Amino acid sequence: MSTDDWKRQAAEQALGYVEDGMKLGLGTGSTAAKFVELLGGKVRSGLNVVCVPTSEATRAQAAALGIPLTTLDETPALDLTVDGADEIDEELRLIKGGGGALLREKIVALASERVVIIADNSKRVDVLGKFPLPLEVVPFGLKATERLIARLAADNGCDGEIKLRIGTDGKPFLTDNCNHILDCAFGSIDDPESLEDALKLVPGLVESGLFLGIADVGIIAGPKGVEVLSELDIDFDEDI
Ligand code: A5P
Repeated sequence: MSTDDWKRQAAEQALGYVEDGMKLGLGTGSTAAKFVELLGGKVRSGLNVVCVPTSEATRAQAAALGIPLTTLDETPALDLTVDGADEIDEELRLIKGGGGALLREKIVALASERVVIIADNSKRVDVLGKFPLPLEVVPFGLKATERLIARLAADNGCDGEIKLRIGTDGKPFLTDNCNHILDCAFGSIDDPESLEDALKLVPGLVESGLFLGIADVGIIAGPKGVEVLSELDIDFDEDI
């Protein structure tokens, strides 16, 4: 089995949380895309749901599959969001934003009663931070924002290169909200909560890719099967 198969397995399992009539948040990324694809099949078979996508890419995919779409303005309270992650630790803390959709992902997740994260086992970590932490920042004052982030991060024991994300066109990457992304290679984030609190002091920073206390369930698929982690049961099976 390949990583792709494990992503699909996790996505399949997440379908079990979907009930007829639900209002859903749809995540972004290759794993979430598998969930959207499977959901499209269920919709074609008669499942009645209405969904808020977390990115324009997911919107396009869901629309092409005939999944009924809405917005948070029309539907501000959702039942369930299913999304991927770049890293997930034992306490269901996440790094997200590898695909640049972290702001909408966090808004949609926090509008949802329940958040289910789907991932292959390569995303599991003991300590967050090996994946460079994405931060969405406004273009104005970018260098000053970067300096302030570097200082506050260092105060919280996080050093490492902070790089402006560049898009495939060679220009600074633009999010769906017309902001930029700084990718922060901290290596390890020993106290994610205190780093998140510090980052909130940066006026040019719109949102961080730290998702703390947001995920309710993690579905992680690997060579030894699918493991479901929840707030009530967060013990990892080290074999996966
Ligand atoms: C999108 O901005 C991210 O938060 C994704 O959820 C994350 O990057 C996971 O993507 P993959 O499923 O493609 O690894």
